[in-house]
Amino acid sequence: KKVVLAYSGGLDTSVILKWLQEEYGCEVVTFTADLGQGEELEPVRGKARAAGVAEEHIFIEDLREEFVRDYVFPMFRANTVYEGQYLLGTAIARPLISKRQIEIAREVGADAVAHGATGKGNDQVRFELGYYALDPDIAVIAPWREWDLTSRTRLIEFAEAHDIPVARDKRGEAPFSTDANLLHTSSEGKVLEDPWDEVPDHVYSRTDNPEDAPDTPEYIVVGFERGDPVSIDGEAMSPATLLTALNAHGKRHGIGRLDLVENRFVGMKSRGMYETPGGTIMLAAHRGIEQLTLDRGAMHLKDELMPRYAELIYNGLWFSPEREMLQALIDRSQADVTGDVRLKLYKGSVQVVGRRADVDFNLYSKDVVTFEDDAGSYDQKDAHGFIKLNALRLQLLGRRNREKIRK
Ligand code: ARG
Ligand code: SIN
Repeated sequence: KKVVLAYSGGLDTSVILKWLQEEYGCEVVTFTADLGQGEELEPVRGKARAAGVAEEHIFIEDLREEFVRDYVFPMFRANTVYEGQYLLGTAIARPLISKRQIEIAREVGADAVAHGATGKGNDQVRFELGYYALDPDIAVIAPWREWDLTSRTRLIEFAEAHDIPVARDKRGEAPFSTDANLLHTSSEGKVLEDPWDEVPDHVYSRTDNPEDAPDTPEYIVVGFERGDPVSIDGEAMSPATLLTALNAHGKRHGIGRLDLVENRFVGMKSRGMYETPGGTIMLAAHRGIEQLTLDRGAMHLKDELMPRYAELIYNGLWFSPEREMLQALIDRSQADVTGDVRLKLYKGSVQVVGRRADVDFNLYSKDVVTFEDDAGSYDQKDAHGFIKLNALRLQLLGRRNREKIRK
């Protein structure tokens, strides 16, 4: 019996590691992904070793470029938000973790995978739908749904009995659950569970308070090619480098904080706080370049489909035919989404203040739209018939209703 555990090295997955070895009698393989959560990952190796994991069974991998290039960017092509606001920072990372876990299981000949998500949330669904899609016969172990460590207190007792270090600073006031990667940091539980109470300052970890942000705005130019951001202020950057740089801009100006009560897939409502500094800038910038380069029909169709696409990602259906079909449509729409967007960052806000695109991509015509002399590029008389025919049904309806009232 060999199991590949998605292992962060934190308290919960450290307890799970021990529990799998002792209660389950499994040989455990640990997989730790660097998705840009901003923590040193090498200490994780020491922790896994100390727990008795064989050297060749400790996997620590930097997946930041793959994460941004193949998951974050494709999602942003659709301007994706869940329930109008959530930029899906946790949901979009789960498929990649699932995929690598299954690949590692194949490499080491494991027949099972395990994760540290609770039985109440979305993440269990996302991990496991990913596992089953990629390996229909894999066995899945979800310790939170199986063990008798049903409270925080019992978990800590188990940790202490097994010499697993428990971080005691900030205990009691920190959120119960956080998740971080290059796109966002999320916090849920404990002090956040009363949705009437404002999120305390100490819960924010990767954005400066907008109230303390610089008094002078900052301007940046983000360049796009075929729907993806490729440069900042003219400097070409790889996907992860670019998002890292946008995060730094966003942090400084307190951009991308969100306090939200959302509907989980399992049916309950949950209150969380999100910080998505670079992603919030990227979303605004992408809309900015689409304004010049995307046809109206294409734009409105993808806008209509976006909530469906967001829900698929939220619900863990990244590896599904319907998500792939929508992705093909979205990607096709981005062929000419190329150009520059100028943004103004100021005290928690990001505004598009300028956009430009090459003649090969641009659909905006000043000659046509101008209120000055258009030199015959648009005939205002054409609008007469356009309006008459569009009004016809409204007129017929209005006349009928007028007669009905008379009777
Ligand atoms: N509610 C968010 C989602 O479902 C975040 C979940 C993970 N967050 C956490 N604190 N563990 O995507
Ligand atoms: C968890 O339950 O492990 C975190 C929250 C979620 O998955 O929605």
